[in-house]
Parts: sequence; structure tokens; C-alpha cells
Amino acid sequence: MSLGKIIDKKNNDLFKRIDQEKVPEHVAIIMDGNGRWATKKGLPRSFGHKRGVDVLKEILKASKKLGCKVLTVYAFSTENWARPTKEVDFLINLFNEVLRNEIDEIHEESIKLRFIGDLSPFPVTLKKIISSSESLTKNNNKFLLNVCVNYGGRQEIVKVAKELALKSSSGEIKPSEVNEELFNSELLTGGIKDPELLIRTSGEKRISNFLLWQLAYSEIYISDVLWPDFNEFEFLKAIIDFQSRNRRFGGIESLPNESFEDSQYSS
Ligand code: IPE
Ligand code: IPE
Ligand code: MG
Repeated sequence: MSLGKIIDKKNNDLFKRIDQEKVPEHVAIIMDGNGRWATKKGLPRSFGHKRGVDVLKEILKASKKLGCKVLTVYAFSTENWARPTKEVDFLINLFNEVLRNEIDEIHEESIKLRFIGDLSPFPVTLKKIISSSESLTKNNNKFLLNVCVNYGGRQEIVKVAKELALKSSSGEIKPSEVNEELFNSELLTGGIKDPELLIRTSGEKRISNFLLWQLAYSEIYISDVLWPDFNEFEFLKAIIDFQSRNRRFGGIESLPNESFEDSQYSS
């Protein structure tokens, strides 16, 4: 059997273990470990970023196949400007190149593409291609791919607070009208359903300023695999792990019947 066939079989076996009723609608991913992957191989970090793009394509395909509806990926954080200029410039060029090469296929697949973050510091060429890609795909309804670039969760929350303060001072809203629903609708994610699952690769156990509001009750799956080695198989493992979780949302595990529950409190 060829290696490709063996991989397909492994993925199909795992696929069969998935409960179709409990597939997460929205998955968020911190795609981490590109640099370490390349360094381990004695290659420049840029090779890791390039390979990372292929992995994103594979995971996009896998999540669509599985029946997810939204994928939100962290591609560049507000803190990533702290990297050497050469790496930042490489990443900006890579975003440009990938968009140029992939936008037609994304559109054909009926995927709506959205960029989330403060785009203002990026070069005009990148801003233009982002804007044309978003408008080309805006009516697509099979799947939503959110790419977070120059994104920071704290900055997003401050931005919403500022907007609501302005609306309140101009009389458009009353301070008493500020509630979770209104706040949520003003976020850059535009009130879409929160991710049920957050995956972070490369073994790091932190959120790194990603979707601070939206991840309030997401299940967190940390994979030790570096992003360029992540694949459909690892993604399916994350989904199976997610399906085994007991999501209580502050409540308690559902009990078989009320009388049993009552008996827990009778003295
Ligand atoms: C994630 O991989 C990609 C970006 C943050 C742009 P890294 O570049 O952070 O890779 P490591 O964590 O240094 O290995
Ligand atoms: C988070 O990864 C940002 C992205 C994946 C784009 P980092 O590599 O920047 O995070 P830290 O520095 O390890 O927290
Ligand atoms: Mg990193």
C-alpha cells in the first residue's frame, strides 16, 4: 500500500470514530511552532512559515469535510511586531502571495474569507488584496474562514469599549443599554458564535492575547505537534478529544432524574 493510501486509511478510521452530532461549529487555532520546526531541521524560520500555509490548507479542507462551519486562525499577533524586521516583512509578503495564489480556489469552494485585526499598519498592496478578497467572497455561505492578522484580544476589547463610550456620549445609546449582547455584536468577530474548541499547537499552554472574550467557555486542546507537522490526523484527534469533554458551563453534570438530585441535598 502506498504511503498516501496508508495515511487515508488512518484518517478514515479516525473519521469513523467521530460523532457527527457533536462536531464543533467553530474551531479556533493558534498555529504555533513554525520557527522551531525549521530550526530543528537546520533551516531558516521562513521555511516553517511556508510549510505552515500548506498545513492550513489541509486543516481547512478537513474541517469543511467534517461539517464545521467556521475556522478562526491566528496568523499574526499585535505582539509579533517585536520580531526581527526581516521575519515580519517575510510574513507580510507571504500573506500577499498566498492570497494571490489561493483566492480563486477559496471562492470556488464557496468559502467566505474575513481578516480580523487592525490592518492599518500593513502596506497598501496587502490591504488592497485583503479588501478585494473579502468583497469577492462576501456572499459565500458554505464556510467562514477568519484570519487574524495584527490581532490582539485586549486591543479588540478596548476598541469596543471606546466605540460604546462614543455612542453613549453622543446619545445613540444609554449607558444602561450596554450588555454582553451589545458588546459581543461590536467585536471584530461580529457576534458570530464563540469557538467551542481552541487548538494550540507546539505544546505552549497560553492564549497569547487571542480572542480573550470569545474563548470564555471554549474547550482547550494543546497539541505537542509543531504547526508544520500538524495534519488532518492530528486535527481529528483534537475533535475526538473535544467530543469526550463534559461541558458544564458552571453547572453540574446532568443527572438522571430530579429525585436523585434532590436526594443529594436531603440530610
Ligand atoms: C507561529 O509560529 C507563526 C507566527 C507567530 C507568525 P512561530 O513563528 O511563533 O514559531 P515558534 O513558536 O517560534 O516556533
Ligand atoms: C501566537 O504565537 C501568535 C500566532 C500564532 C500568530 P506566538 O509564538 O507569537 O506566541 P508566544 O510569543 O509564544 O506567546
Ligand atoms: Mg511561536
